[in-house]
Amino acid sequence: MSIVEKFVTMDYGPAPEDPREAVAWLDKHNRRFGHFINGAWHPPLVAKYFDTTDPSTGEKLSDIAQGSALDIDAAVKSARTALPHWQSLTPHTRARYLYALARQIQKHSRRLAVLETLDNGKPIRESRDIDIPLVARHFYHHAGWAQLLPQEFPGHEACGVVGQIIPWNFPLLMLAWKIAPALATGNTVVLKPAEFTPLTALAFAEICQEIDLPAGVVNIVTGDGHTGEALVAHPDIDKIAFTGSTEVGRAIRKATASSHQKLSLELGGKSPFIIFEDADLDSAVEGLVDGIWFNQGQVCCAGSRLLMQESIADQLIAKICDRMNTLRVGPPLDKSIDIGAIIARVQLDRIQRLVDQGVAEGATCWQPSIPMPSRGLYFPPTLLSNVHPTSIVAQQEIFGPVLAAMTFRTPSEAVELANNTAYGLAACVWSESINVSLHVASQIKAGVVWVNCTNLFDASTGFGGYRESGYGREGGREGLLEYLEPTWFKHAPQLHPRPLAIDQPPQQIPESVADSANTPPIDRTVKLFIAGKQARPDSGYSLEVRAADGRLLGEAPLGNRKDIRNAVEAARKATAWPKSTAHTRAQVLYYIAENLSQRREEIATRLSDVVGQQQADSEVTASIERIFTYAAWADKYEGTIHNPPFRNVTLAMQEPIGTIGILCPQEAPLLGFISTVIPAIAVGNTVVGVPSEIYPLITADLYQLFESSDLPPGTVNMVTGRPSELLKTLAEHDDVDALWVFADAPTCATAKTLSIGNLKQVFTNEGRSIDWFNPAPSSDRFFLQHATQIKNIWVPYGE
Ligand code: NAI
Repeated sequence: MSIVEKFVTMDYGPAPEDPREAVAWLDKHNRRFGHFINGAWHPPLVAKYFDTTDPSTGEKLSDIAQGSALDIDAAVKSARTALPHWQSLTPHTRARYLYALARQIQKHSRRLAVLETLDNGKPIRESRDIDIPLVARHFYHHAGWAQLLPQEFPGHEACGVVGQIIPWNFPLLMLAWKIAPALATGNTVVLKPAEFTPLTALAFAEICQEIDLPAGVVNIVTGDGHTGEALVAHPDIDKIAFTGSTEVGRAIRKATASSHQKLSLELGGKSPFIIFEDADLDSAVEGLVDGIWFNQGQVCCAGSRLLMQESIADQLIAKICDRMNTLRVGPPLDKSIDIGAIIARVQLDRIQRLVDQGVAEGATCWQPSIPMPSRGLYFPPTLLSNVHPTSIVAQQEIFGPVLAAMTFRTPSEAVELANNTAYGLAACVWSESINVSLHVASQIKAGVVWVNCTNLFDASTGFGGYRESGYGREGGREGLLEYLEPTWFKHAPQLHPRPLAIDQPPQQIPESVADSANTPPIDRTVKLFIAGKQARPDSGYSLEVRAADGRLLGEAPLGNRKDIRNAVEAARKATAWPKSTAHTRAQVLYYIAENLSQRREEIATRLSDVVGQQQADSEVTASIERIFTYAAWADKYEGTIHNPPFRNVTLAMQEPIGTIGILCPQEAPLLGFISTVIPAIAVGNTVVGVPSEIYPLITADLYQLFESSDLPPGTVNMVTGRPSELLKTLAEHDDVDALWVFADAPTCATAKTLSIGNLKQVFTNEGRSIDWFNPAPSSDRFFLQHATQIKNIWVPYGE
């Protein structure tokens, strides 16, 4: 038989990986694990264990401790105690520990890969060639950041003790994504692995022992969702980092609302995989295999919605079916297996239920006739076509090897379909035209866009979502910021709001002003400002605004729910501003500053009635300078290009978040408004602002400035009234993408609690006092960071 004939007829034979070393490791631990706390193994304080099993066989692998609140408390105490020593080490010393972790992971890479496959069911090819090498790469990369920390992040410090909760789909990789940046920035951690897949986290704990990582820097407590809940509820945690379902992300957001814990959430997705008619279809089909069948589709960024240009749909479906016929489903330790086992019975049932529901809603289900294992938890690769965009299988995360296919005609229809989801984690765009690909990539609301490639990840490049896929990034410079806080902000004193003249009974008026107090004030009709127009409030009511000495200064409209809704609608429709160039935005901001400068005296005189002449003068002077600062930044707050170890460039683009609702600081009516609203619009957001409660009349001065400065209508909208009522509507509004609140601690907590619906990003002063007059050097970047989200667009090059 010739080589060619052999090549054509050759079939796969089994190529099993030898699991003996991993099994010996389990046996060495008597197949029973406690928690790893303060550098040593501890049995659970409440003696309870559960099984971890191999999903490909159903066989039990070992007993795992069920962590209780007592175990969590012990682990948090250990992390807290370890913190001062860990932070006292030089950056170089911490870098060496991270480097040692990377080296040790490499030395044990095969055992870790086998253990991962045993515990999770993923093909050994994936754990060996993707998961574990990326884990090592993550620790190497972050060893570098540990070394460079002081010079790259001056004026920042670690959050402190970090609680980390990870899922089961990439157990060790998610651990690395969490622990490496936390340690590099000087935090100590308590990590809870997923209940289905704790083994590699426990093997990692042993690696921490092997490299003599100081005790208490890394603590691992195993258990289920209750253990996670106890970690989130612990009062001595400074930051929570979570990856998992949107539902649990929402619960964590709620549970942490009244604390000052920093929170990052990496949640689910329903990512579009868009193929244009000019794409290299064979490459696109290979990409799709990776996009949806990698890790059995149990991937948060899985390309689970196939959007095909109508002209190629039939041809593409035929190619996909051909390829599906060659996929091999089976024992994941076999090196020639493409699709391994589903993590657990509950997941398998969930996948089947969703597929059935999709079919009931009109989808056509196709599965290849390929051999399926007779035992274990397996689901065949599945294609659902004729899927309606509103069907459950087009909207809900299935987290299984199921592709939902739809068609589109034009690029703009593709973008519309792609964005027709509450999620925004990732997207793939396949087209040979760089213009089309980048044009579409720029319009997709997702944290990662892969152009002509799929599922590329690297430690240098941030990963994370838009909208209900969560916020915060993991990887790269942007990921480090999640574990750092500006020192000036972290240690700012508590804010003590001043009593409101409008809520106070009129005060005793001094003799000297009694006369003027009795004369009616000049009637300044202040209105709301919506869509570039002055508007009367829906309620038809006004609020009295009084000077510090009790004089009536004027009346401000009492805005209500409806006014906020109108303002949000105007902000969303104001597309001219987000589309304008950074240069144009800078010019408009300079023009606002110029007009403020010309009107400085009259504005300061009016403001002085409430805050006194000295503060009023300082507010105007500082506001002009602040606007100049953000005008300067408008065309300089740029993205960057990452160089991951592949043949591609990754464009990290700074994008505006969308529409931001801002409850402006009370204490500095003009300067507080300028210091918060201007950075938001400098980078292309539109705003609904609620001006200071002590002097809402500033609204009239502000809209006159905006009207005379070429700011497009709807870019900034202002609604005066009772902030607590307006905050509720802003927080609950699904078309508000982010909420900024600068107020006392209870108001900040309310904002976080009320806004969990669409998981909008919330940025508050955490009830702290911000010195608007003497900002810290890093504060403008701090505001700009919160006004933007990074989209990483991966663009390969070469043949
Ligand atoms: P899950 O979100 O319940 O679990 C993720 C982690 O959170 C686990 O460590 C779990 O123990 C912990 N946890 C659960 N409840 C908690 C609570 N109340 N407080 C704190 N921690 C808690 O995910 P699950 O149930 O394993 O999977 C359900 C669905 O979630 C999947 O079908 C998939 O759609 C999605 N998912 C998304 C992931 C992602 O990477 N975005 C990863 C895993 C699941």
